[in-house]
Amino acid sequence: MKGLIERAASDLINSKRAIALTGAGISTESGIPDFRGPKGIWTTDKEAEAKAYERYELFLRDPKSYWEEMLGEKGTHGAFYNEVRKAEPNPGHYALAELEKLGIVKCVITQNIDGLHPKAGSKNVIEYHGSVHKLRCPSCGSRCGFEEVSLEKLPPYCKCGGVMKYDVVHFKEPIPFDVMNEAEKEALECDLMLICGTSAVVYPFASLPRAAKLGRRTSGTIIEINAEPTPLTREGISDYLIQGKTGEVLPQVVEAVRRWRLNRD
Ligand code: APR
Ligand code: ZN
Repeated sequence: MKGLIERAASDLINSKRAIALTGAGISTESGIPDFRGPKGIWTTDKEAEAKAYERYELFLRDPKSYWEEMLGEKGTHGAFYNEVRKAEPNPGHYALAELEKLGIVKCVITQNIDGLHPKAGSKNVIEYHGSVHKLRCPSCGSRCGFEEVSLEKLPPYCKCGGVMKYDVVHFKEPIPFDVMNEAEKEALECDLMLICGTSAVVYPFASLPRAAKLGRRTSGTIIEINAEPTPLTREGISDYLIQGKTGEVLPQVVEAVRRWRLNRD
């Protein structure tokens, strides 16, 4: 592992435009379960997974019932979101924020709805699956915080007259145009992609590493940090996998980057 951490540090230092992609694995050390790991939410609760696949249709069909379920009056999902809101960043999140401060990582594209990257100090964060801290109007695309709307009467409405929903992107829901575009642009322009804590099986997010590898003239370096190999590892999309916990590996990578810089300067 030590050799791979040194290699990652040298690749990062020699990169011109490195970005990071993250998934639920980077937040498990903050106490938020992932989805498909051994203790994952979908792995351990098939009923919750089935309900998650119905959520977007419920919003389209009956937004009032959708909100009642999401606010935990009828279902359990509200309770899960409340837990997510209380979570704090861990050393993995802080390490990526540090790499941004060092001018190396230009952007974090995350599947996580927990808001822990901005909370850890990362500035340029694309929340590809939305945020549990925001609402969004699918009609005009505008987003706002929960403190800006009244949930006395459900469903809440946008100024444009559209019905608001959680900013979180549910299964079968299209990825909002703005984040989809920004993410694709970053994936095609980066020369290094650091992929942390994702099983890389959910699309269209999982197409971003393939776009970075196959979608342009010069392929960038793709590094995975994950507890287990993924399809990206098996298909050779990533150049190498550092198998371990993001909260333990990423701080070591930052430390190595600092050492390299010191020796270089
Ligand atoms: N460090 C490194 N890897 C970890 C850690 C950790 N501390 N904890 C878990 N992992 C790994 C797991 O082994 C698994 O390979 O992270 C991966 C998490 O994968 P998923 O649970 O599938 O999460 P993710 O890839 O983010 O899921 C994508 O699916 O359910 C939807 O919308 C949801 O955004 C989510 C999307
Ligand atoms: Zn609107």
